[in-house]
Amino acid sequence: MKIAVINGPNLNLLGTREPHIYGRTALAEIERLVRARAAERDVQVAWSQTNHEGEFVELIQGLAGTVDGALINAAAFTHTSLAVRDTLLAVRIPFVEVHLSNIFAREQDRRHSLLADLAVGVVAGFGPRSYLLGFDALVAHLVDRGG
Ligand code: DQA
Repeated sequence: MKIAVINGPNLNLLGTREPHIYGRTALAEIERLVRARAAERDVQVAWSQTNHEGEFVELIQGLAGTVDGALINAAAFTHTSLAVRDTLLAVRIPFVEVHLSNIFAREQDRRHSLLADLAVGVVAGFGPRSYLLGFDALVAHLVDRGG
């Protein structure tokens, strides 16, 4: 089984960015945690991060036929990007939406996701653990589906 983990804008700044909201764990450390979990489950991981919406779209377009599913933290694009929504509608890859923070307990503009209704499910509010919970849920979903 192979999954992609796609991270959106400013997640490269994790560790120093608004630590009272996002904690002090760097994205590279979250990647290490996810890769360790994936190795235990014999799952391959394709990891990426971009600050650019067009590149984010192209990363998702590239998933068709190359991975079984995806973990996606679209960061601010979650709340703004019809382009990312359209790509997920076009590509139709099973994905779990993850967020470090509980977006539903934050400012009004963050409480709505343009992607969530397309996701298998959403994990938000558990810090770096959101990625591991999302990973486990995605793998379980794909196994149930016979993937
Ligand atoms: C985030 C939440 C978003 O609202 C925000 O724009 C981010 C990070 C999270 O992981 O909590 O950049 O996706």
